[in-house]
Amino acid sequence: MNAFDLSRLQPRLPSPLEPVEDERFARRGLTLLLKREDLIHPDLPGNKWRKLSLNLREAAGRPVLTFGGAYSNHLRATAAAGRLLGFPTVGVVRGDELAGRPLNPSLARCTADGMRLEFVDRATYRAKNDPATRAWLLERAPAGAYVVPEGGSNALAVHGCVELGRELAGLADVAAVACGTGGTLAGLAAGFEGRTLGVPVLKGGFLGGEVRALQEAAFGGPRGDWALDERFHGGGYARVSPALDAFAQDFEARHGLAIERLYVAKMLYGLTTLAEEGAFPAGTRLAAVVTGAPETV
Ligand SMILES: Cc1ncc(COP(=O)(O)O)c(C=O)c1O
Repeated sequence: MNAFDLSRLQPRLPSPLEPVEDERFARRGLTLLLKREDLIHPDLPGNKWRKLSLNLREAAGRPVLTFGGAYSNHLRATAAAGRLLGFPTVGVVRGDELAGRPLNPSLARCTADGMRLEFVDRATYRAKNDPATRAWLLERAPAGAYVVPEGGSNALAVHGCVELGRELAGLADVAAVACGTGGTLAGLAAGFEGRTLGVPVLKGGFLGGEVRALQEAAFGGPRGDWALDERFHGGGYARVSPALDAFAQDFEARHGLAIERLYVAKMLYGLTTLAEEGAFPAGTRLAAVVTGAPETV
């Protein structure tokens, strides 16, 4: 273990797997299990811990430069890791119009954790992986910075999520996970012997290609038995309809845990709909991966 190994932070791993009584599943002979990734660490919940751990070990204390929108959970988790383990962090934030305004609670948390924020216009943000733009950004970061891509998804992040799939071995037949960049799904599916169902929270239908590319980068080819159901993005990223909110509130009341709306609620809604559509044979054990917790700032 090196000084920048997240295991120093005593994560709760393997994350708990909790069976819950839900008649929408029970009446079809299905078992619903919640894979409580949100309980891994209060500052690095869920897939944040899984995706950052190998990257931070690789960075080994170098400054970390990464990217996100104004409400990015990934920026917050990276900033928190920097504070907890003691390395500098720089967050490149989409939207130069934000630079002159008071920080929202999420970005304020990042700076309180010591992250330096660089606001860039949308065109620059879109071009962040082009060599010239990347060089320009690196000039603004401390020397020798280690770059973690937007959403934290790269080959090391995918490898970090493999263990999530392995933890479900023999305990579940299907794992359901919400997808943004697809990194969590790419690793989970590789480590899981059952079927993995991805619920994209962005619309556009591009995610299958992204997952294949991430698996190619991480493993050299496709891994695991996975599929996407594109019906549950609810209009696109960060769109939370009153119906989805009502579903999440009802789930919270039934099962006594707080449900993150942008990802986890959409996955649970999708899984419940599929169960009600008769998509799974009786006897199937369904693990719903709770990839994060609602913001508390
Ligand atoms: C709570 C939560 N769940 C799921 C995801 C999706 O993860 P990925 O980008 O690896 O698909 C994210 C984004 O990082 C997230 O914050």
